[in-house]
Amino acid sequence: MNNRQELPSWQFLAEHAQQMKKQHLNQLFASDEQRFDKFTIKLPHLLLDYSKNLVTTETMSGLVKLAQDCEIEQWRDKMFSGEKINLTENRAVLHTALRDRSGDALMLDGEDITQTINLELEKMESFVRKVRQGDWKGYSGKRITDIVNIGVGGSNLGPQMVTEALKNHSDNSVNVHYVSNVDGAQIAEVLRPLDPASVLFVVSSKTFTTTETITNAKTAKSWLTSASFDDDAVKHHFVAVTSNLENATEFGIGADNIFSMWDWVGGRFSLWSAIGLPIALDMGFEKFMALLEGAHQMDRHFVDTPLEQNAPVTLALLSLWNTTFLGSQSQAILPYDQTLHMLAAYLQQAEMESNGKSVNWTGEDIEYQTVPSIWGGVGINGQHAFYQYLHQSKNVIPADFIGSIESSTPVKGHHETLMSNFFAQTEALMRGVNESQVREDLKAKGRTPAYIDQLAPHKVHQGNRPTNTILLDRIDPHSLGGLIALYEHKIFVQGIILQICSFDQWGVELGKGLAAKIQTELAEEGEVGEHDSSTTNLINYYKKMRYAK
Ligand code: F6P
Repeated sequence: MNNRQELPSWQFLAEHAQQMKKQHLNQLFASDEQRFDKFTIKLPHLLLDYSKNLVTTETMSGLVKLAQDCEIEQWRDKMFSGEKINLTENRAVLHTALRDRSGDALMLDGEDITQTINLELEKMESFVRKVRQGDWKGYSGKRITDIVNIGVGGSNLGPQMVTEALKNHSDNSVNVHYVSNVDGAQIAEVLRPLDPASVLFVVSSKTFTTTETITNAKTAKSWLTSASFDDDAVKHHFVAVTSNLENATEFGIGADNIFSMWDWVGGRFSLWSAIGLPIALDMGFEKFMALLEGAHQMDRHFVDTPLEQNAPVTLALLSLWNTTFLGSQSQAILPYDQTLHMLAAYLQQAEMESNGKSVNWTGEDIEYQTVPSIWGGVGINGQHAFYQYLHQSKNVIPADFIGSIESSTPVKGHHETLMSNFFAQTEALMRGVNESQVREDLKAKGRTPAYIDQLAPHKVHQGNRPTNTILLDRIDPHSLGGLIALYEHKIFVQGIILQICSFDQWGVELGKGLAAKIQTELAEEGEVGEHDSSTTNLINYYKKMRYAK
């Protein structure tokens, strides 16, 4: 394994970054009229403009050279062919196979997983049809009107984000709800208006051991059986998506009602599997397949396109440039489409659970800045909340602006207002406004010199804040599939360059283990004493106050 920092391409970029830090995007635009053409990638249904990043053609060639030195193409081929690139868990990483309908065999441990996937899709299709047509009956013979997906993390965020994004593509054959939080408030609120006789629960958990999910599933089960007075009702009202057949069966779900997950699909990359069942139930199986097809097209672009024109590679290289070489520490995801309101939350898990690590493949500490923290929210609401920070704080926060040419929900006059803000914000973040412009402006408004002196520094915007603009034709199953796959591959490329094990998540285990221990302690009589003094006293205070009466 080579040390990335010793690569000449890395060293070039480190030095080049020092030069580029002295540049302003305004100069780069002024000195090159072709900048937009040079730094955009046009794909079917998607335009990526990355010209508002502090890069030149020299920067981009340096970054591509680094990607080559890190053998991105070879690693990409390893992933697609099923090599076990999830090193710490010795697993293949094959979410891409879930959306490959080419029919080509893909052998993994002696088994053609294409056939496995196809069988599962057939099972999904017939189940989805049955439920949506009203042929799947509840314990009293009523049709299913409401689906409640119970799952958390990857077993929630992907399906829920897509359901929200494609709301307009649902024909409302069924209503889909999500329960992820173990806070009883959520499940209570979801179940309150529902009729147990016409609800179908989808318990989504790759491991079927996630405490929060199992707790919610048990609550749902007793809600159902106390209404039906019949334990047998579970078989009409529960299906599971899991790789843990044993636990799901023990829970009471019949084998026919269990959809498979496999260890070669990571939770946060799983919406393309039966974890996407609520999406298919909501929109119909054909639209679920269009989502898969859109993602597959992005897979083909990732595999077939030279690195220079490769959208996921470019996004990854820019994130690396902004973070590792220019020193940004966070990145904002800013969709200008209400339907994408969960995208930032989804990408938070996808990127941060994948690459939020600080040792490399062989377990050595990584010395350089790795990946940014991801946050964000819908653009317009953000403009009236946190954009002040994006424009004028001391921290530079690169941002991805995501919008669409056609509105998801056309309402006269709204889309142009929305999109004028979309374009204005990246321009403002890039251009800024300097002090002399501010002063001139205030003078033109007839302000007094004293007032101008006082206010001018507060109105200066440094600009030079990098953004990517991703403009989709529209948000539909196909384009959304492509957008998600774009980010998935970006995450992969970043992981390879930074030598991070992107497909495990050991960092969530410590807290899980402690919570299990504390849950036992909360149930026991008396004080606890084996924690640090803060945790001990907090738990004891909680127990005293809660159980005092
Ligand atoms: O705790 C993190 C995590 O393991 C995620 O990686 C995963 O998506 C989520 O929990 C849910 O896991 P499961 O699907 O096994 O319930």
